[in-house]
Amino acid sequence: MKLWGGNYSTDPDAAFWEFNRSFPFDRRLLPEEIAASQAYVRALGRAKSIPARDAERLVDGLGEVLKRARRDPAYLELDAEDVHSFVETRLGEIVGDLAGQAHLGRSRNEQAVTALRLWIRVAIDVLRDGVRALVEALAEKGHAGAASVMPGYTHTRAAEPITFGHWAAAHAWGLVRDFDRLGDARRRVDVLPLGSGALAGTALPIDREALARDLGFAAVSESALDAVMDRDFAIEFVACCATLQMHFSRMAEDLIWLSSPEFGFFRLPEAFTTGSSLMPQKKNPDALELVRGKAGRVTGDLVRLHTVVKGLATGYQKDLQEDKEAVFDAGDTAINSVAIMRGVVTGLTLDEAALRRAASHEEMIAAGLAVAIAHEGGSFRKAHGLVGSMVAEAQRTGSSLRAVAARVLASEVPSVAARLDVLFAPDEAVRAKAARGGTAPDAVRVSLDAALSRLRRE
Ligand code: ARG
Repeated sequence: MKLWGGNYSTDPDAAFWEFNRSFPFDRRLLPEEIAASQAYVRALGRAKSIPARDAERLVDGLGEVLKRARRDPAYLELDAEDVHSFVETRLGEIVGDLAGQAHLGRSRNEQAVTALRLWIRVAIDVLRDGVRALVEALAEKGHAGAASVMPGYTHTRAAEPITFGHWAAAHAWGLVRDFDRLGDARRRVDVLPLGSGALAGTALPIDREALARDLGFAAVSESALDAVMDRDFAIEFVACCATLQMHFSRMAEDLIWLSSPEFGFFRLPEAFTTGSSLMPQKKNPDALELVRGKAGRVTGDLVRLHTVVKGLATGYQKDLQEDKEAVFDAGDTAINSVAIMRGVVTGLTLDEAALRRAASHEEMIAAGLAVAIAHEGGSFRKAHGLVGSMVAEAQRTGSSLRAVAARVLASEVPSVAARLDVLFAPDEAVRAKAARGGTAPDAVRVSLDAALSRLRRE
């Protein structure tokens, strides 16, 4: 079972053996481990370190291991220390003693990191496809609601009217940066460690560039010691997942509170809610709450990885075996969450009347009114103070801000008093914010299209 033990006289302690085993979680690296092992024996064959015929038999035998694993789930339940020893043991059942040659000059230190890089590379591609699809869904909703006015908030207090499209574009742009970040991380993941040995490099005449091409790696590691000991590529991937999940979480938070009966701005697709076992009226936003909650989990994965790696002496240490679960957890969580977010956004409907009613709240016009007054001359600070006093008066007397403004401005700034109809219309307020990046419907459409084209450029 073990790949070592020639110098041992006792078996490992049973509890320690279980503690030591990574196979329960690294078995999911089997396809990557097999692909890397096949490429490695082909490289050994090309280097004439093993006969070409043996290389072929090993490649076929490794393929057979994968086939058996796919055919029979019980195969993967067989006892093994880790995925690397599993493959070698199973290979031995197929090709006999020749299986040992697949390990010629190769260390599990480089195998573990090679398989993990291959896994992360795929996860990044899957995740980027998911992010692209989510941005497309947001852009579609954003275009449909490019002119739908709603309140924009700061400090969760109504601030100024915005359009729904503006809300959608804000979240789309965060995701565009996540997409970029993942692409950037991918470049550093896409480096071949194999051929590094345990730490010192390999004495075999292996052509590492050819090996890299065989596995589709864009580059070859330049230091064997760095290649086996470092995990910054994994940390970077998990950091990308944590930031992405944080963005999902913020989006989820708005969709949760603004779809509550008290606001009623959005209706969530029923398929992403659950009922209450006690209260028959409820449709709870569980999907979004879980996405938000899992942001804590992925951040935890990042902290876990950073902490595991930080104090390690130069070279491979078994602590590094703790990398995999954090990477899988972060990747799985982000990949699942992006699909949930896409489903929610795709099925989201707006209650235009509720949005408009809330967007028409007069106090949100205060800043726009102050700008209009200042535009006529005098200072913005003074105009701010004047509008502030009008707001206080309206609140004190229970009258509308509009009525107070009409009276006060008739004498103080008649040109503004004459335009109150326009100034108090939320549609006009958003249309005025026409500069690039603003909430005007046309600006929002440009922004959404720019976000889409950023994702399509590759
Ligand atoms: N299971 C180990 C890991 O995941 C593989 C490397 C073990 N290497 C060693 N020399 N013990 O990191």
